[in-house]
Amino acid sequence: MRKKVAIIGAGNVGATTALFVVNSGLADVVLYDIVEGMPQGKALDILQNTAVTGVKSDISGTNSLDDLAGSDIVVITAGLARKPGMRRKDLLMSNTEIVGGIVKQIADICPQAIYIVVTNPMDVMAYVTLAVSGVNRQRVLGMGGILDSSRFKTFISMELKVSPRDIETLVLGGHGLYMVPLIRYTTVKGIPISKWLSKEKIEALVQRTREGGAEIVSLLKTGSAYYAPAQSTFEMVKSIILDEKRVLPCSVYLDGEYGTNDVFNGVPVVLGKQGLEKIVELELTEEEMQAFKNSTEEVKEMIKILKEEGKI
Ligand code: NAI
Ligand code: 2OP
Repeated sequence: MRKKVAIIGAGNVGATTALFVVNSGLADVVLYDIVEGMPQGKALDILQNTAVTGVKSDISGTNSLDDLAGSDIVVITAGLARKPGMRRKDLLMSNTEIVGGIVKQIADICPQAIYIVVTNPMDVMAYVTLAVSGVNRQRVLGMGGILDSSRFKTFISMELKVSPRDIETLVLGGHGLYMVPLIRYTTVKGIPISKWLSKEKIEALVQRTREGGAEIVSLLKTGSAYYAPAQSTFEMVKSIILDEKRVLPCSVYLDGEYGTNDVFNGVPVVLGKQGLEKIVELELTEEEMQAFKNSTEEVKEMIKILKEEGKI
């Protein structure tokens, strides 16, 4: 039986993810949006692209959540995107209404689904998804760390003029300004990054990574990044569908791991057909642990606001 991937929100990230999934041939896609005609139009366009590629995946667009019934994976990208000067946090209230409302309506008709949450503030939206859907934590994952790691790799590759494929790195923590790029786990062909670049240069690249989303927002002026975000989301879809058991940084519900609980935050996980199959616990230095804690505090603060406002 072919897998069914529902993509909620047919905007930039949603439609691009749909294109990547369809062109992989791994699953059929249903693209949902609130705007009438738009998901249908984009789905038809993506379907016509398969007449060129010859890939046998189906895609349809819809404005009815009923059409998502029985999905194996639900990718959530619906919501407002950042505008120049806006922090991810500013999207908190509006996107909670949107994401919470949708998950409430589909939880029963997608009983097997694994959710991949993209909508910002992503770690909090993943928390909302877990709370509203009532599924176990294995089945709710947030996308952020793969994108943030890809940005750090890109900047290192641009600086050293080496292939990003030879760079290994890990960015932990929430998908926000307090993300934690791990220098000790950053290597070029296994050689520590500290052998390649000065401390000051590494710090500058870390800072550029932290502001990687904002840099693109300020260039685009009318939206935020979507090609690398969609590719990162597809990487997660693929690891689940093919049961690849990739070790990827994803935002997951922490229940004692990394010295914290009742929060979503980015950590390395094994991603397979069950969704979250294992959390990889790294030994962090005191400084890294403090940075990770700062990041979880930022997410916890937003969860607290939502609880106080009775939103979850
Ligand atoms: P976009 O504005 O292009 O698309 C959002 C889509 O959501 C629009 O088509 C809109 O009509 C739809 N939408 C709004 N309310 C809806 C509802 N109630 N039901 C169904 N659809 C609804 O935005 P884009 O660029 O695709 O970004 C989507 C989200 O992903 C934003 O919150 C953005 O900040 C976030 N994002 C997160 C990243 C991450 O690493 N976690 C990376 C990039 C974007
Ligand atoms: C990004 O990092 C906006 O979160 C989005 O590009």
